[in-house]
Amino acid sequence: MSMVEPHKRQMTMEPGEILRRTEAFVRERMSGEGTGHDWWHVHRVRRVALRLAGEEGADAYVVELAALLHDVADHKFHGGDAGAGPRAAREWLSGLGVDAEVTEHVATIIAELSFKGAGVATPMSSPEGRVVQDADRLDAIGAVGVGRAFAYGGSRGRPMHEPEAAPEMHDSFERYKSSTGPTINHFHEKLLLLRDRMNTPSARRMAEGRHRFMEQFLERFHAEWDGLD
Ligand code: ADP
Ligand code: NI
Repeated sequence: MSMVEPHKRQMTMEPGEILRRTEAFVRERMSGEGTGHDWWHVHRVRRVALRLAGEEGADAYVVELAALLHDVADHKFHGGDAGAGPRAAREWLSGLGVDAEVTEHVATIIAELSFKGAGVATPMSSPEGRVVQDADRLDAIGAVGVGRAFAYGGSRGRPMHEPEAAPEMHDSFERYKSSTGPTINHFHEKLLLLRDRMNTPSARRMAEGRHRFMEQFLERFHAEWDGLD
């Protein structure tokens, strides 16, 4: 036993150390950005994902790594390249010597995670993926979701609202990615659809209040827009 590849054993990092280093890497890379895809988004997603993981019997280590790395190279900031996210996660984890199975699992979760249009199904192939997707989607709705939508829209120079522009129900990822509609339309094109697409019962419960809040927000927004109230 003691004779087995001592140099290799030295290189194997504890999961706790892998998580600490990954957190430091992501925090450094994503701090202070203004589109709603900042470190605090990642922090919220990780917390909720870990809570859901307990209830769903998902592997907490994989869930935490995937939550931490899920937006390090999102397609929205990489010229629409959906491969950039999984690639960046794979590079980072294999650089730390994380075993190939965990690395591939995390990369798969990131590849499957994103919303791809109102008419496009995004099934997750593992319980770990299902809870990270739910946590990411919960952070896109409710009060935080409203804030993030306008932050992102503003960062892209999108108008808040154009009364004449009808929402589009995108039936392909390509069309969804290239859409440039106003932020209010994004509520109809994505945010109001998320409640019914939660994977786990706890996330569905959490989505309920957040969804209602968005409906109230939109009602007031339109009332104020029309000079009422
Ligand atoms: P996903 O990978 O499912 O798109 P993200 O974690 O990258 O999820 O975050 C998406 C966030 O970006 C949401 O909060 C969403 O409101 C915002 N967003 C994305 N596209 C738009 C858009 N066209 N208009 C306004 N906000 C958007
Ligand atoms: Ni995200």
